[in-house]
Amino acid sequence: MEEITTRIPFYDLIRDFLVTDSVKNLFLIRHGETYFNLEDRIGGDSSLTPKGLRQAQALAQYFKSKSIPFIYTSKKKRTIETAEPIRDLQPNCSIIPLEEFNEIDSGICECMSYEEIRTQMPEVYYARKRDKYNYVYPCGEGYATMKERVDRGIKKALFLSGRAENIMIVGHRAVNRMILSHFLYRRTEDVPYIYIPQDKFYHIVATQYKKLFQLGPYE
Ligand code: F6P
Repeated sequence: MEEITTRIPFYDLIRDFLVTDSVKNLFLIRHGETYFNLEDRIGGDSSLTPKGLRQAQALAQYFKSKSIPFIYTSKKKRTIETAEPIRDLQPNCSIIPLEEFNEIDSGICECMSYEEIRTQMPEVYYARKRDKYNYVYPCGEGYATMKERVDRGIKKALFLSGRAENIMIVGHRAVNRMILSHFLYRRTEDVPYIYIPQDKFYHIVATQYKKLFQLGPYE
């Protein structure tokens, strides 16, 4: 397990005390491989590939010895399909899809590949490259404009989880970067480059007494 430890700024203590006092462990997962991932396409509502389904089964085996009463997903098929096998091996587990955890809306670029964007809309491609955090896709979102809704999703999930000790969020690449940066301080310009692999998961502990970030494999 790779461990990231950090100094806890005072304002973080206040924030973590307010929002994660009863939830002790947050397992942050990215959905398994999709057909769109194979073509490097963004957005859309693609399903998992056979490899993605195997990743979901492996996650289910890994987490079956831990009690996960709540799994929060986005409204997209790929996150729900990843969560279902995990739920099926738990004695008591609900999947709660929240639109706040939907992937960044790439507006006029939805369903395009990065290469198509570069060749057909170079102004979009290069403007985003220059300032990825603040760039907003035409008719869509940017990292900066997603912040409010992702923070709302985290608060909603923690509230709905009541006194549960362990919860899981199955999200997407950009959304998971924003969730991580809610708990772990990062300069905004670095947030869109945080590593969010599909074969590992983040374990986050952000209570008043302990702050821990681990990135580890599940198989
Ligand atoms: O896996 C693809 C994806 O989730 C897209 O749907 C999304 O637009 C993208 O990743 C976000 O990553 P980046 O901000 O690095 O383009």
